Amino acid sequence: MTAYQSVSKITYQLVSVTTYQPVREDAIDRETELSLLDELKGLSDTGSAYLDETVTRSAVEDYTSQACFDLEKRRVFSTLPHIGCHGTELSEPGAFRRVELAGKPVLLTRDHDGKAHAFLNVCHHRGARLVEDRHGCKHVFSCPYHAWTWSNTGMLRGIPHQKQGFPDIDKSQYGLIRLPCVERFGWVWVVPDPSADVDIDAHLAPIAADMEWLDMDSLQIAQETELTCATNWKLLVEGGIEAYHFSVVHAKLLGRISPTICPATNALAHICAACCLASR
Ligand code: FES
Repeated sequence: MTAYQSVSKITYQLVSVTTYQPVREDAIDRETELSLLDELKGLSDTGSAYLDETVTRSAVEDYTSQACFDLEKRRVFSTLPHIGCHGTELSEPGAFRRVELAGKPVLLTRDHDGKAHAFLNVCHHRGARLVEDRHGCKHVFSCPYHAWTWSNTGMLRGIPHQKQGFPDIDKSQYGLIRLPCVERFGWVWVVPDPSADVDIDAHLAPIAADMEWLDMDSLQIAQETELTCATNWKLLVEGGIEAYHFSVVHAKLLGRISPTICPATNALAHICAACCLASR
């Protein structure tokens, strides 16, 4: 399977906003704000747009190379934190959620003390899938193959016929494979590679202030939709962060605030310097 044929499965969740977000006073200092407004007005005056100073070309191989895709899977998807679920999806002690992260089966649990855990959803005996239900509430998980049992903290609890079949086994050495996991900003963050040496808090530090301000602990999952797209993942990400297509693809929505809309400047209405200046 080549990278361009590979299927990027995207799961996104829509959450309902349940709190009013007050303006964050430290979001931007006044000097920077005025500087940006002047920059935007300059662009507006010249009928220009904000562009990089140089044209960037992307090699087609970056999107089609299997070697590149394999490297990305190892270095990006397997070793950096993913959002496993929202904290409210593990709403009570014993709650669990089954997810797939970076192609790996993952079991998320909340223990008696309220702590979230993440494990590979794989039996440590013969590798059977431990949990099939998508979510639920259990304090003990029993493997559907030979019925070894684990607590929701990952400890091996029971082995049928242990005395006869496994007399010397040290159960403390056969817990579920634990994945790095922390619960922060309302979300359960998981690194899918159990051997990854990642400080999740350090990784999230640059966005910590914004995440705290968003107060996502107070949100609830309103709807979950899973999309499967046959494309390279970078095309999706890059398409999501460029605005060049707005006035064409989203003409009936964002197109209404596209450069042709602002009556005063013919610039982007939502970032129009003149409109912003008028409201100073
Ligand atoms: S494979 Fe799970 S108990 Fe044997």
